Amino acid sequence: MSVEAAEMDQEGYDRLQRALKAASGLDLTAYKKKQVFRRLAGFMSRYGFANLTVLAEAVRRDPSVRQQLTDFLAINVSEFFRNPERFDHLKAAVLPELRRTWSSLRIWSAGCSVGAEAYSLAILLEEMEPGSYHRHAVLGTDIDREALREAEAAVFGADRLREVSPGRLQRFFAALPGQRWQVKPSIRRYVRFMVHNLLEDPYPSGQHLILCRNVVIYFNEAAKEKIFAQLAASLVPGGYLLVGSTEAIFYPARFGLAAAAPFLYRRVEG
Ligand SMILES: C[S@@+](CC[C@H](N)C(=O)[O-])C[C@H]1O[C@@H](n2cnc3c(N)ncnc32)[C@H](O)[C@@H]1O
Repeated sequence: MSVEAAEMDQEGYDRLQRALKAASGLDLTAYKKKQVFRRLAGFMSRYGFANLTVLAEAVRRDPSVRQQLTDFLAINVSEFFRNPERFDHLKAAVLPELRRTWSSLRIWSAGCSVGAEAYSLAILLEEMEPGSYHRHAVLGTDIDREALREAEAAVFGADRLREVSPGRLQRFFAALPGQRWQVKPSIRRYVRFMVHNLLEDPYPSGQHLILCRNVVIYFNEAAKEKIFAQLAASLVPGGYLLVGSTEAIFYPARFGLAAAAPFLYRRVEG
């Protein structure tokens, strides 16, 4: 379906809007309409939906379509400790294991948007080893300069902090007027941000842990393969790659990776 055709189909659009709002709480009216139509048209042609009504029906019935469409539409969506169970696993198992092998850890949040993921990782490092910013480093990269400017300012509203416990909020954030919080320097000093296009730029090497989540969902299969291969090559043997919940890697051995936990892969030795 073309962008123009989608724009003409007001009835189908209303249906989709209602279905999304009811099913996942996503309010399309909060987004720039032109962009939404562009994305909807892209989503429908990529996944083979004939029109907006068919898509609305799929959204109502199929949670995975719902999730996929939500992620597809909300390009900069991010929050601290998104999918908290993954961060729990990083804290309990992955980081301590890496730390036993390496004295100094390099962690990369690829496609970091406004930096919530990178700062979440820095919080885990600080909790594991207070004051170890001179030892461990988190790199946050994104193609979107505007998002990186926000990341550097490190000021966040309540919508991005839903998964931050009261204890963490108090310890690692300074309250600002207007229900906003700024990440404290004790955490910010772990993190460095840089513009980086995953499709074009050379990848940093020697990474111990890479998070690349809710990014490749925007790409076609060929681009995805290329990105996974390069991410795997950026890891040290024994290093880990965590991807998003709709981005599982099939046959990870192709990239020299082995599944270690849900959506988590370990680069095999050698
Ligand atoms: C939905 S956000 C994901 C943020 C974070 N990883 C998370 O899961 O919360 C997707 C991010 O991917 C970035 N992105 C899209 N294409 C990219 C590319 N070619 N290279 C690097 N980043 C890209 C977007 O700018 C956006 O900030």
